[in-house]
Amino acid sequence: MKLGAFPDLKLHLTASLSSCVIFLNGMSLSERCDLAVNLESKGCEMQFIERPGVKVEVNTTLPSTQVAPRDLLVQLPPGGETSFVVEVKQLERYPVDLYYLVDVSASMQENLDRLKTVGMALSHRMRDYSSDFRVGFGSFVDKPVSPYINVHPLKIENPCKDYEIQCRPAHGFIHVLPMTDNMTEFTRVIQQQQISGNMDTPEGGFDAMLQAAVCQKNIGWRPEAKHLLLLMTDQPSHLALDSRLAGIVVPHDGNCHLENNAYTKTTNMEYPTIGQLAEKLMDNSIHSIFAVEQGQYKWYEDLIPLLPGAYLGRLQKRASNLKDLVIEAYKKLLSNVELEVAIQDHHVHRFHINITAVCPKGSQATGINKCSNVKPNQTVFFNITVSMKDCPSEEEEILIFVKPVGFNETTTVRVRPTCSCRCRELGRCLDERDDALCGAGEEQDDLSPARDCKLGGSGPDCSGRGVCVCGKCVCDHTNLGTVNGNYCEVDDFSCPYSHGLLCGGRGQCISGECRCESGWTGESCACPASTEPCLSEDGLLCSGRGKCVCGSCRCDDPRRSGQFCEKCPTCDYSCQSHWKCVDCHLSNGFSKGKAKECNRTCSPLVDYVDGIPGMSSV
Ligand SMILES: *[C@@H]1O[C@H](CO)[C@@H](O)[C@H](O)[C@H]1NC(C)=O
Ligand SMILES: *[C@@H]1O[C@H](CO)[C@@H](O)[C@H](O)[C@H]1NC(C)=O
Ligand SMILES: *[C@@H]1O[C@H](CO)[C@@H](O)[C@H](O)[C@H]1NC(C)=O
Ligand SMILES: *[C@@H]1O[C@H](CO)[C@@H](O)[C@H](O)[C@H]1NC(C)=O
Ligand SMILES: *[C@@H]1O[C@H](CO)[C@@H](O)[C@H](O)[C@H]1NC(C)=O
Ligand SMILES: *[C@@H]1O[C@H](CO)[C@@H](O)[C@H](O)[C@H]1NC(C)=O
Repeated sequence: MKLGAFPDLKLHLTASLSSCVIFLNGMSLSERCDLAVNLESKGCEMQFIERPGVKVEVNTTLPSTQVAPRDLLVQLPPGGETSFVVEVKQLERYPVDLYYLVDVSASMQENLDRLKTVGMALSHRMRDYSSDFRVGFGSFVDKPVSPYINVHPLKIENPCKDYEIQCRPAHGFIHVLPMTDNMTEFTRVIQQQQISGNMDTPEGGFDAMLQAAVCQKNIGWRPEAKHLLLLMTDQPSHLALDSRLAGIVVPHDGNCHLENNAYTKTTNMEYPTIGQLAEKLMDNSIHSIFAVEQGQYKWYEDLIPLLPGAYLGRLQKRASNLKDLVIEAYKKLLSNVELEVAIQDHHVHRFHINITAVCPKGSQATGINKCSNVKPNQTVFFNITVSMKDCPSEEEEILIFVKPVGFNETTTVRVRPTCSCRCRELGRCLDERDDALCGAGEEQDDLSPARDCKLGGSGPDCSGRGVCVCGKCVCDHTNLGTVNGNYCEVDDFSCPYSHGLLCGGRGQCISGECRCESGWTGESCACPASTEPCLSEDGLLCSGRGKCVCGSCRCDDPRRSGQFCEKCPTCDYSCQSHWKCVDCHLSNGFSKGKAKECNRTCSPLVDYVDGIPGMSSV
C-alpha cells in the first residue's frame, strides 16, 4: 500500500509517524491503528500514542465580566476524559434586587409592621455594598382551599371573623410591588398591607417562591443584578405531595402563572418539589434568604443544604434584626463561590464530572465545588474533569452547563461525542467503543469490501441495534440488557417471559422471538413439543375428545374436564340439558300443532309419545 493513495492519512494516524518508523518496521501502515495495549506490545511507547478523539476548543467570542470562558467545545470519545479550567471572579459591587416575600397570615402582623420602618434604613445601609439597590414586595398565605382554609362563606371573605377583626382572604401568592428604588413607594405599599388568615400550620411559601423566581418580567429582576429572595415566615412550608390533602394532584409545571399579579394555579397545581424549586432558583440566579422565627429554625436548617445559594437567618421578636440579617446574608452569600453542573436530560448517566476548586488562599481539594471567604475582586479557579462513559445512540451535541450559583453568567460546554473511529476510512479498522482507539483486529486484505452486516442479507444493518464497522457489527449498549450475536439480533430482554424467565429459560431471544430448545415450543417456550402428556390410558389423545394444546388437553365439548377430557358429570342428564325445549313444549299445552314454535329453542328433537311403558301417565 502506498501512502500517496490516502492523501489525508496523516490525520488518522494513531501512533505518530516519527516514533513509529521503527515500530512499523515493514508492517502495513494501517497497523498503526490499534488498541493502546496492542500498540504498546508492538513497541510503540505510550507517550506517542494519540487518542484522536479528545479536543477542547475555547470560544472567546462571548463577552464575560465574571465567568470565563463562556463557551467551550469538547470532543470526547467514549471512555475519554478531559479537563479544563473555569474562572469565576466576584466583582466588588453589584446592583442588588431584593424581593420581600412575606407570609401575611395572622401571626405575622408584627413582622409586617417592622417592614414598614426597615425599608428606608436598609436601603441606606446597602449603599456600602451595592451600587444600586432595589426592592420589591409580594405576599402569600396558602392555597385557598380546604383543609388549608376554613371554607365557610363568611370565613372565606374574612378569615379572622372569630377574632372580630377584619382581614383579607387567603391567597397563594400576590405580587404587590415590582422592583423599585423608590423607598417612599415601598413604605407606602407596605402600609397598605393587611394580614390574612388560614387554618393549618404550614404555609404555601414554596408555591410563592417559585412564582417569584420564574416570573422575572413581573417581578422586575434585572439581569445585571444580584437577586435576593427573602422569605419571611413563622411557619414551615408545605411540600409537593401535601397538596393531595386538598385533592390537588397535578404536579407543578415550574412555570409562571400570574394574572393581574395573582398566582392563578394555586388551587390547580401541587406545591413544587424541593428539587424543582432549587432548579428554578438556580436558573434565575436567585439567592434565597430564609428569615424565620426561632420555632421553625430547625425545619429550615434541614432544608438549606438542598437549595444551592441559600441562607438561613433567625428572625428575632418583631423582626427587630431584619436589617442586619439581610446585610449579613448578602455578605455571606457573596463570599461563597460555588459551582453547580447540569447535564442535559437523558445524558446524566453518561458522564462523570469531577470538580476541583482552587481557592484564593491556595487550598484545593478534589470533589469540592465551593470556596468560602472569597473577597471581592478575587478569582476562584475550578478545574473540571469530564469523562464520558458511553456513546449516545445518535450523533448529537450534548450540553453541559457549568453554573456558578447566583451569577448571571454560565459556561456552556458543548460535548461532541466522537463515537466513530476515523481510521475506519482505511477500510479495515474496528470501532473499539470501549477504548476509543482504532484496532486492526481483522485478518483480511487491506481495503477488501466490507462484509454484510445485515441479518439474512436484508433489513437494517446490525438489526438496527449496532453499527457496521468493516463488515462487523458492534452492538449498542442499552440499559435494557445485553445485545449480541453476529448481527446484534440476540438479546436478553425483548422476548416474552414465562415463569419470570425470558423464553421460559428454555430458548434464545432472537429478533424479538423465542427460539426454543428442542422439546419445547410456544411463544415463550412454555409448552412441551411432544403430545405425550395428553395421551390417555386408552392410547388416544385426550380420550379422543379433545386436542393437545401446550402439553394439556383442551376438550371439544366444554362440559368435559379432567386431564384427558374423561370427566363429564353433566353429559348424561339430557333431561336437564334439554329442559328449555321440554318447557317450551309443555307451556304450549302439548299441542302437536304448536310444536313448530319451539323450534327456535330446540331442534325438533322432541317426540310425543302417549305413554312410557312401565310408568303411569301424568
Ligand atoms: C462561539 O459562540 C457563539 C455564541 O454561542 C457562536 O455563535 C459561535 O458560532 C461560536 N464560535 C465557535 C468558533 O464555536
Ligand atoms: C416615589 O413614590 C412616591 C409615592 O409613591 C411618589 O410620590 C414619588 O413621585 C416617587 N418618586 C419617584 C422619583 O418616582
Ligand atoms: C452580569 O452582571 C454583570 C455585573 O452586574 C454585568 O456587568 C453584566 O452585563 C451582566 N451580564 C448579563 C449577561 O446580563
Ligand atoms: C473523580 O473523583 C473520584 C473520587 O473523588 C475518583 O474516584 C475518580 O477517579 C475521579 N474521576 C476522574 C475522572 O477524575
Ligand atoms: C477591584 O478591582 C477594581 C478594578 O480592577 C479596582 O478599581 C478596585 O480597587 C479593586 N478593589 C479591591 C478591593 O481590590
Ligand atoms: C485538572 O485536573 C486534572 C485531573 O485531576 C489534572 O490532570 C490537571 O493537571 C488539572 N489541571 C490544572 C490546570 O490544574
